[in-house]
Amino acid sequence: MESENKLERSEFSSVWKDGGNIKFGMKLDLVKHLLQQREDPQWTSCKQRMLSVLDLSNATGPLVILDVGCGLGIDALAMAEQLGRSSHGGRIVGIDWNSEMLSYAQNSLQDVELPQNVTVEFVKADVTNLDTIADESFDLIRADITLQHIKLDDALKELSRVLKKGGRLATLEGSVGGFWSSDEFVSSTYNRCMPTSPLGGTGIQLYLSVRNYGFSVSHFETSAMVNTGASLLSADPDGVKLKGIAKMLVGKQVLSEEEVEKYTESYLTAAKEDLVLSLGFIMLQISTKN
Ligand SMILES: C[S@@+](CC[C@H](N)C(=O)[O-])C[C@H]1O[C@@H](n2cnc3c(N)ncnc32)[C@H](O)[C@@H]1O
Repeated sequence: MESENKLERSEFSSVWKDGGNIKFGMKLDLVKHLLQQREDPQWTSCKQRMLSVLDLSNATGPLVILDVGCGLGIDALAMAEQLGRSSHGGRIVGIDWNSEMLSYAQNSLQDVELPQNVTVEFVKADVTNLDTIADESFDLIRADITLQHIKLDDALKELSRVLKKGGRLATLEGSVGGFWSSDEFVSSTYNRCMPTSPLGGTGIQLYLSVRNYGFSVSHFETSAMVNTGASLLSADPDGVKLKGIAKMLVGKQVLSEEEVEKYTESYLTAAKEDLVLSLGFIMLQISTKN
């Protein structure tokens, strides 16, 4: 089947909408997906680096913090621990529009002892519509790997509105990367059919566009994110993501049943033999509201 078609990034992002992770009779376990990510030392070091850049334990006054797309609430709790070591403490609000993420985050509050000077709450909300939140409510907004799922202009407009003047917007986002395999069929099929990062990816777009929303970039740094065949397999041991993508490719007539079967088999063989490699960049950026 010849087609210029490919999967769109928005088709991947749609898994985060309530019920969007159940497709073709299969369920992508989003909780497991995010927990697995935390086992990758590359991610752990990006998350640690973000905490040290934020330096919350040295805050000079009480902070009100918004964690956008808080997912399982792990970052909100790590920030609470750090903020608790400051003399002033503060309040952390995690928002997410996915019910499963929110209930995991809310449950996790029962298992931790928060510092006495910090409160944490998790609220269901869509970041592009924060109507119930007053202008200039937060000192710090953090958004890790969330803005890539949202129309950047809509999110930045709303985040700029609810952030105080002089407040910080901290983001962790991917930028362009690549995928290679010594199996040329796997490499060319992947690169032809998988979504591309438009205009360099969200990390680069954030760098270029935050000033349109009243921010200055005050800090940025990048880390490489490398996935080998072994790490790609361990992120999807039951092949749920691979099978889901295969169904999407057939459903959208990007590939025929036969092509997709050949592709998934060759991909798995190449990954098992460690003959695939993907490389991307994660940009950590702090933008200050003027
Ligand atoms: C890849 S996860 C990242 C979770 C967490 N920040 C982390 O680093 O582990 C993206 C999160 O953004 C949330 N999300 C996506 N679009 C959203 C929107 N419009 N409003 C609120 N949350 C959203 C998803 O439900 C998901 O929990």
